Amino acid sequence: MKILVIGASGRVGSDLVEQLLNDDHQVIGTTRQNEKLFGNDNYTQLDLDITAHKDDIQNQIDGNIDAVYFVAGSGGKNVLEVDLHGAVKTMQATQDKGIKRYIMLSTVFSLDTSQWDSPGIKDLKDYYICKHYADQWLVNNSTLDYTVVQAGALKEREATGKITIDDNDSGENSIKDVASTLAAVLHADNTIKQVFSMHNGETAITDAITKI
Ligand SMILES: NC(=O)c1ccc[n+]([C@@H]2O[C@H](COP(=O)([O-])OP(=O)(O)OC[C@H]3O[C@@H](n4cnc5c(N)ncnc54)[C@H](OP(=O)(O)O)[C@@H]3O)[C@@H](O)[C@H]2O)c1
Repeated sequence: MKILVIGASGRVGSDLVEQLLNDDHQVIGTTRQNEKLFGNDNYTQLDLDITAHKDDIQNQIDGNIDAVYFVAGSGGKNVLEVDLHGAVKTMQATQDKGIKRYIMLSTVFSLDTSQWDSPGIKDLKDYYICKHYADQWLVNNSTLDYTVVQAGALKEREATGKITIDDNDSGENSIKDVASTLAAVLHADNTIKQVFSMHNGETAITDAITKI
């Protein structure tokens, strides 16, 4: 498949691109950096800034793409422009380009405002508001075949290959396991039009995804 990864240079994005290349997909990765991120012949790169006008973003996207991943993020520095408006423009551009599949990396409890007074979220309220409305746009306003993967805290640690899904708990994730989960979602049609939360847990990733 031909896959667009928006945010290919990020911690999750770079692991995801590696996994997709290992699975023999053709990957187009986006970054605003100049140097090419991966040497693989199946990898090409796009200099994409999602704060650009929606039409400019759309013009940069190849219509032959089978699926789009959104794993970009502002890191809290420009949440409105990147995590909200930037994300929604990529959804609109994907949809208007006629591409159906769109896989969003989001954050645990993005759609459950009742959890937002908890200590881990309170200080990230602006970010949560942006992820909330971006996810809402995807779910309620788009016609895309979306999957929203709501990960708990991202940690730079070894992969475990095991996760727990939808247990209404935050929790931590090996970044590599988040990337593997995102990669597994691509081949799991049962995840289309689904939102699920995840953190490291007890079930092998492919088994956990199959049960969604
Ligand atoms: N931190 C957590 O614990 C946590 C938990 C759950 C979910 N998440 C979500 O996971 C996402 C990815 O996390 P991460 O740690 O992998 O992120 P990261 O390492 O900070 O990478 C961010 C990516 O976003 C891209 N980006 C930033 N601004 C952009 C812009 N204006 N236009 C285009 N691309 C832009 C960067 O590309 P450039 O190369 O162009 O800079 C980079 O590829 C976060 O943003 C967050 O929404 C995070």
